Amino acid sequence: MITKPSALQQLPADLDAERLPKHVAVIMDGNGRWAKLHGMPRFMGHRRGVDTLKDLLRCCRDWGIQALTVYAFSSENWGRPLEEVNFLMTLFERVLRQELQEMMEENVRINFVGNLDSLPKSLQEEIRRSVENTRNNQGIHFTIATNYGGRQEIVQACRAIAEQVQQGLIQPEQIDEALFERHLYTSEVGDPDLLIRTSGEMRLSNFLLWQVAYSELYVTETLWPDFNREEFHYALRSYQKRERRFGKV
Ligand code: FPP
Repeated sequence: MITKPSALQQLPADLDAERLPKHVAVIMDGNGRWAKLHGMPRFMGHRRGVDTLKDLLRCCRDWGIQALTVYAFSSENWGRPLEEVNFLMTLFERVLRQELQEMMEENVRINFVGNLDSLPKSLQEEIRRSVENTRNNQGIHFTIATNYGGRQEIVQACRAIAEQVQQGLIQPEQIDEALFERHLYTSEVGDPDLLIRTSGEMRLSNFLLWQVAYSELYVTETLWPDFNREEFHYALRSYQKRERRFGKV
């Protein structure tokens, strides 16, 4: 059945509102393949991907999910053709500028994670503006991983902790999981309960390596531009059928 754009505005009746994931993370994959399949240049896939993301963010809000974290650009994505990298940077900047007002109205709190210093200065400025403006919003916590790499995040946390030890501010014995987590980019939003990956690849691709230790994984063959509320409904249904044991029996 094809979902009409207006369908599934409210939480579907077969989902238990009490057992929804609090935090959903998404590896948005398959934009290029989607474009190729439709005889379009790759950038059209990214453009359509933005529409999908906007609707997923609204859907999370409509259905009562508290946090959404998406992988927009990995530290490895710099290896793509310069034209595509430039297109993505300009797209992020434009979307942020265009959507800020609406994000404010919808009470969305925006955050960015990753090595933001190497992004174009104008994008850094747009990021700073959107994070600052939405800082006190109380609605969904929307995190965008840009120039993000999970290993790099862990290394920077280690470095920050090592510096504290070197300065005598903490003792090595005080380093535990809780302290380590406070040095990750995600310290405010915590670990995702559910990680969705589109386009069928069974990989983490260096995304939130520490944080997904106990996340439920859901992989769909659907390409990101085609991911919709109905697909999200399937993912949540699958999530609610699982028993989360966190290593216990
Ligand atoms: C992966 O598909 C997708 C990306 C690298 C870009 C994702 C970015 C967006 C959807 C835009 C988000 C916008 C904002 C403002 C956060 P791919 O190109 O790797 O697809 P392929 O595997 O089929 O080639």
